[in-house]
Amino acid sequence: MSSFESRWKTSANIAFVKYWGKKGHQLPANPSLSLTLKECTTTTKATFTEAASLSVSLTLSGKEEKNFADKITTYLETLTGEFPALSRLAVKIETSNSFPHGTGMASSASGLSAFALCLADYLGKTTDADFYRRASSLARLASGSACRSLYGGFTVWGKSELPGSSDEYAVPFDVHGDLAQLHDSVLVISEEEKKVSSRQGHAKMAEHLFKEARYTQAHRHFSLMLKALKSGDIETMGEILENEALSLHAMMMTSPEGYMLMRPNTLAAIELVRDFRQTTKLPLYFTLDAGPNVHLIYPESTRNKIETFIAHELAPLAVRTIHDQRGEGPERC
Ligand code: PMV
Repeated sequence: MSSFESRWKTSANIAFVKYWGKKGHQLPANPSLSLTLKECTTTTKATFTEAASLSVSLTLSGKEEKNFADKITTYLETLTGEFPALSRLAVKIETSNSFPHGTGMASSASGLSAFALCLADYLGKTTDADFYRRASSLARLASGSACRSLYGGFTVWGKSELPGSSDEYAVPFDVHGDLAQLHDSVLVISEEEKKVSSRQGHAKMAEHLFKEARYTQAHRHFSLMLKALKSGDIETMGEILENEALSLHAMMMTSPEGYMLMRPNTLAAIELVRDFRQTTKLPLYFTLDAGPNVHLIYPESTRNKIETFIAHELAPLAVRTIHDQRGEGPERC
C-alpha cells in the first residue's frame, strides 16, 4: 500500500474588505482583501494511503473529530470528478490550532488552507507559482476565505482592477511601506461557539433585500481600500475598515431570520477605540470577523502607546487578548 505524507503550517487572515455572499460554484459575489496573520496558526499533517474507497479520519489536538472528518469527506467527494484518484484514498489528518476554534477567528481559513496545501502536494507539484495558485483554488472550494491564507501580507480574492486577480484563487500584492507592518491585536470577547455558521450566513445573502446595495458598496470599498493601502493613506484605510466590519454585521442582523454575533463588550470596545482615536489622533482602528471578537489594527510606528492603551482599557473587556501581526505565509514543516 503506498502512502504519501505532507505537513504544513498556515495562519488565519483578517479581511479588510469582506467576502459575504457567493455566486456560482463557491465564487465570491464581490472581491475581498485581507491581511495574513502570524500567530493564529494551524499545523496539519495529512497522510494519504491508497484504499478501496474514500475515508477520512481527523484529530484536532489529538482528539477525534468526526464532524470535521465528515466535512472533509464531503469536500473530497466534490473533487473526485476532477481527481478520480481521490475516491480510492484513506486520508488521515492530524491538526492543531494555536487559537480557539469556532469563535469567529477564521480557524476555517488556516485549517483549510493547511489541508489544501497537503492536498496540492499529494496531487503533484507544478511550478512554484502554480502550486500555490492550485492550493488557493483547492482551499477556496473548501472555505472561501481560506484561499487568501496561501500568501503572506496582503492578498486579494476576486476579479477586480488588481492585475492578475481572479474569482478562482487569491493573489498577493504589495502595499506602501508605512502599512507593511500592521499589527492586529485580537480582543477575544467570547470563546463560545457561534450559533450561525458562515455557510448559513452566506446563504442568507441570496435572499437579502439589501444584497445589491451591499455588493455595490463592497466593490466601491475594495477600490478605495486598494488605493489607500498602496498610497499609505491610513485614514482612508481605517475608515473603510470600520465601515466594512459594521456593514458585515448589519447584513447579519437584517438578513432573513436575522442574528447578532456582537456582544455588549464588542460595542464597548468599539466606542473606546473611537474615543481614543479622537482624543489622541493615533491611528488605531477596529474590524470584526464573523464573531464578537474585536480586531485592533495599528501600525508598527505607534505600537507602544497603543499597546499600553489596549492593556489598560480594552483587555479588561475580553477573556483574553492575542497580539498578532502581519505574517509571511505558509511554511512547510
Ligand atoms: O470563508 P467563509 O466561508 O468561512 O466566510 C467567511 C467570511 C468572513 O470571514 C466573514 C469575511 C471574510 O472575507 O473573511
